[in-house]
Amino acid sequence: MQEKNYEEYAVSHGWKALATKLVRIGNNQDIDKNGRFINAPISRGSTVIYPSVSAMRNSGAENLYTHKTIYGAMGSPNQHLLEQVMASIEGGTHTQVVSSGLAACTVPLLTYLSAGDHCLLMDSVYGPTRRFADRVLRRFGVEVSYYAPELSPQEVEKLFQPNTRVLFVESPGSHTFELQDIKALSSIAHRHQSRMIIDNTWGIGIFQPFQHGVDISVQALTKYANGHSDLVLGAITVNNDKDWQLLRETTVMLGEVGGPEEAWLTLRGLRTLGARLEKQSVSALKIAKWIANQPEVERVLHPALPSCYGHEFWKRDFTGASSLFGVVFKKPVTPEHVITFIDSLSNFGIGASWGGYESLVMPTDGEINRTYKSHVLTGAACRFQIGLEDPEDLIKDLEQGFGILRNSL
Ligand SMILES: Cc1ncc(COP(=O)(O)O)c(C=O)c1O
Repeated sequence: MQEKNYEEYAVSHGWKALATKLVRIGNNQDIDKNGRFINAPISRGSTVIYPSVSAMRNSGAENLYTHKTIYGAMGSPNQHLLEQVMASIEGGTHTQVVSSGLAACTVPLLTYLSAGDHCLLMDSVYGPTRRFADRVLRRFGVEVSYYAPELSPQEVEKLFQPNTRVLFVESPGSHTFELQDIKALSSIAHRHQSRMIIDNTWGIGIFQPFQHGVDISVQALTKYANGHSDLVLGAITVNNDKDWQLLRETTVMLGEVGGPEEAWLTLRGLRTLGARLEKQSVSALKIAKWIANQPEVERVLHPALPSCYGHEFWKRDFTGASSLFGVVFKKPVTPEHVITFIDSLSNFGIGASWGGYESLVMPTDGEINRTYKSHVLTGAACRFQIGLEDPEDLIKDLEQGFGILRNSL
């Protein structure tokens, strides 16, 4: 295969393919009724009223699988519009919007697992997903175990048990950014009658999960989809009616719902996703390469760089990159030195989230919980989210930060 120019690829491919779609889908679907505005109005509400009892009974709204809202806890027109858009971005048939990205991870686990089943998760899944598996799934009689992200699919297959029903993967992994051979893992999961769930928040739009055999794809819409750091929301996408019915049932029974205002704001955020990520991904790659050249840096964990574990799967399966990456420092840099470095930066907020318009940084040491010793974290580390600022300003800030780091050693 011809070697790709990563920068060019990251810029021109993924977001270009999405840009037109993101402008056209999910516009006002009843333009005459809604005053001919291009955007759908916000419809808030709990109570739904009908002109008569028979109209209520004949509305079809008791059917969970229609989107005729009988009550606000079953969703709103804004939520359902966003669901159509997300299904299209993910390349699936149906999306269920839920109250947070974490709920998007936990609802499918509750849907597909019962007492006596086994759930196999990648060791670098998002921390609160892991906490849910350890504390809630185990309490309900589900066996939970983890696999080291560096294992080959054949080695992962050896960890399947006769009762394994779910394989939960995040690619790239949280904080350590290992990419996985999703195609191989999904066929292994299916061979063992298991469902494969992927947390696709990093890969929004640039990784098409269902083309690689994934059954359920979840996303924190909180991050890039909304993009403005002003709400939390999640999406669960599937690729057939049966899976959607199962998920929809669990969601409604749990009372899980995404607020109409959050859905409306996320839909607005999605209009600029292509433009935002085109800029953010280019800036992130430029900054990642700049950081990789600093003498104190051991390794940059950016999926579009060969120094990231599983980079070959990024090259094979992704059509672009987003703007979150990690940095591992060389010894003698300690976690305390990294804190001094982070505290010295003025153009980066210190915060745990990502996907918004602003650049962020956080230390990685002490923040993550793993079953296996990470092959990647060989030294003190931190994570960067690159926003919409001028990358030259960010690099200037980093230059002075590395100066302070150097003087502190
Ligand atoms: C990979 C990943 N998945 C899920 C979530 C959860 O999203 P939320 O904050 O909307 O619950 C996060 C949040 O940081 C995340 O990083």
